[in-house]
Amino acid sequence: MSGPTADLLAEALAAVRDAEGEDALDAVRVRYLGRRGRVTERLRAVSQADPAERPQLGAELNDVRRAIEAALDDALSRARASSREESRASEAIDVTLPGRRPFRGALHPIGRMMDEVAEIFLGLGFEVREGPEVETEYHNFDALNTPPDHPARQGQDTFYIRPGVLLRTHTSPVQIRTMESEDPPIRIIAPGRVYRRDALDATHSAVFHQVEGLYVDRGVTMGDLKGTLTAFVKRFFGSKHRLRFRPSYFPFVEPGAEVDMSCMLCDGKGCRVCKGSGWIEILGAGMVHPRVLKILEKRGLDPSEYTGFAFGMGLERPFMIRYGVDDIRHFFENDLRFLANLSG
Ligand code: PHE
Repeated sequence: MSGPTADLLAEALAAVRDAEGEDALDAVRVRYLGRRGRVTERLRAVSQADPAERPQLGAELNDVRRAIEAALDDALSRARASSREESRASEAIDVTLPGRRPFRGALHPIGRMMDEVAEIFLGLGFEVREGPEVETEYHNFDALNTPPDHPARQGQDTFYIRPGVLLRTHTSPVQIRTMESEDPPIRIIAPGRVYRRDALDATHSAVFHQVEGLYVDRGVTMGDLKGTLTAFVKRFFGSKHRLRFRPSYFPFVEPGAEVDMSCMLCDGKGCRVCKGSGWIEILGAGMVHPRVLKILEKRGLDPSEYTGFAFGMGLERPFMIRYGVDDIRHFFENDLRFLANLSG
């Protein structure tokens, strides 16, 4: 083999030896054997060489090419084997390591409270109904016997989407929707979100939750209302709790009442939370107003044959008292430290 050809081979083999990894080996292949590679160019130049030397030169260069190819293939399969070895080592599982606890999601405390409330009423023979949060003024006010000039209708208190359409200010429109679509006996609760234009502070939020109740049948009395609510409160807050009905006014009930329960913190003795009175207001209720029952005429029924009771209970306030939450904003700031503390 001539001097320059032997030098080229030695240089190429040294380059193969020094190359680390598949990419570096590829670069060596290109540098010597590629279309513009050193060996390739020499092979191409053979045609210009002295005709007497051509066969010898051609044969030598082909030997060089094969030798480089063989060295490259060899180095490449070694590089592949070692990178396989490396990934096997890094992917190996150490079964003796302690487990990592996966993050577990949970229901929002208010959602859980709704489920708990629903569970109790299901046990009393009620079913769950839902209504839209974007509601018609008719369902939210007119059909609930709320006069056109009632202050609650005003823009300061209610979010209007457009004239006649609003964000429901209570769950009571579900009473109307249910009586529009079902015949008595009706025994339903309707949990959900409601909206009011309240300035945000520790006890007021523009979004909060209510559970509505409605029982319509022949011969439903105020006694049924008291019995149902008493059963609920004892199950939900504990058997020692007592209820107190105070006469009150809501356009869609007659008579109407606000219902207080004995304070769950001081047990009726009077404390900071109940402002010394021993009682905490938890809901509004009453006997369904005859003007509201008139909706049954649309179903071909005679409203005068039926009576009913209804109630509407806020969820945030009793929850805050029960768990000592001091600020309503905690419920929707989604701080996991707060939420995780209250999810059972
Ligand atoms: N809808 C009333 C409110 O939001 C509560 C209520 C419901 C009162 C049913 C009486 C009957 O305050």
